[in-house]
Amino acid sequence: MILVTGGAGYVGSHFVMALLEKGEDVIVFDSLELGHMETIETLKQYGNLKFIKGNLKHLDDIRGVFMSNKDITAVAHFAAYSQVAESVKNPQKYYYNNVYGTLNLLNAMLEFNVKKIVFSSTAATYGEPVYTPIDEKHPQNPINPYGMSKLMIEKIMDDYDKAYGLKSVRLRYFNVAGADSSSRIGEWHEPETHLIPNVLKATSEKTFKMFGTDYDTQDGTCVRDYINIEDLAQAHLNALEYLNNGGKTNYFNLGTKDGNSVKEVFSACENIKGCSIPLEICPRRDGDPATLVADNSKAKDVLNWIPKNDLTYSIKTAYEWEKVLSSN
Ligand SMILES: NC(=O)c1ccc[n+]([C@@H]2O[C@H](COP(=O)([O-])OP(=O)(O)OC[C@H]3O[C@@H](n4cnc5c(N)ncnc54)[C@H](O)[C@@H]3O)[C@@H](O)[C@H]2O)c1
Repeated sequence: MILVTGGAGYVGSHFVMALLEKGEDVIVFDSLELGHMETIETLKQYGNLKFIKGNLKHLDDIRGVFMSNKDITAVAHFAAYSQVAESVKNPQKYYYNNVYGTLNLLNAMLEFNVKKIVFSSTAATYGEPVYTPIDEKHPQNPINPYGMSKLMIEKIMDDYDKAYGLKSVRLRYFNVAGADSSSRIGEWHEPETHLIPNVLKATSEKTFKMFGTDYDTQDGTCVRDYINIEDLAQAHLNALEYLNNGGKTNYFNLGTKDGNSVKEVFSACENIKGCSIPLEICPRRDGDPATLVADNSKAKDVLNWIPKNDLTYSIKTAYEWEKVLSSN
């Protein structure tokens, strides 16, 4: 039995779908503050899924899960707040939920002798890139509380391994993109802060704002590494297998090694929608590095992970999912 925290959210739900399709039994633990019960109902159609509503900030909620489910063998931990701008305005909210919530989870794991965890970390732990593509040796100097909260958790996990033998795999995602290939689930954030859904959602009343066209990149807009959600879910399956085979505590970048500019994403969205999308050019925002691209060689070598889906595929699936969302 695998415990998935945050499994009612975007990334967690796609991993749950991948687990269920492999025939694994799954428990999702989620507060539903940001996730959706509709997603859980959809997932339940595809295998043995138990849903427990609870909050990691309450130790007894998560202890109760382990107490009444003694067959949990490993945890995949997605539950967190993840909006960078909000974390700058309200760091307390981020450190409390992300760091304290994770401490409760890790302490409950130790109490019930569950010693394997796959953790959603982020490229934001690297901060301003010193070189690109970014490999795992790149210094980690986060420039916002969100990234710092994730780095603190990574450090705590190292200490918990040394002292208690708790093995972790930290997956540092770059920009996650796309939806389930059959449009059963997809990205559903309120508010939405990610590029592709925001381009696809733009209307004449709510134009798409392109922030900064004077960066030192091929077309002046920021370059990011878009990793497909189903490829990402597969990396988590590989990480679990790695831990089940006795793998040591480790950390990996999850990206494609290819960057795409905001302008490229925008015109790919226009092509897929088959119409022009209302656009407003705006000045740069603070804290957006020009280029963020992953060196993914380590995940390829150690986890045998090869991302298969390109940006066009991610945008197509995201568009199909937007149609489902807007029809409900
Ligand atoms: N989406 C991305 O592009 C991206 C990139 C890098 C890292 N990440 C990380 O991946 C993880 C998942 O991201 P997402 O986009 O799916 O976010 P999301 O907001 O869609 O999902 C997070 C889920 O966690 C739940 N949750 C939050 N705090 C909780 C708590 N204290 N107790 C119980 N449940 C709680 C929410 O209700 C939600 O369902 C996060 O940890 C995020 O930091 C995401």
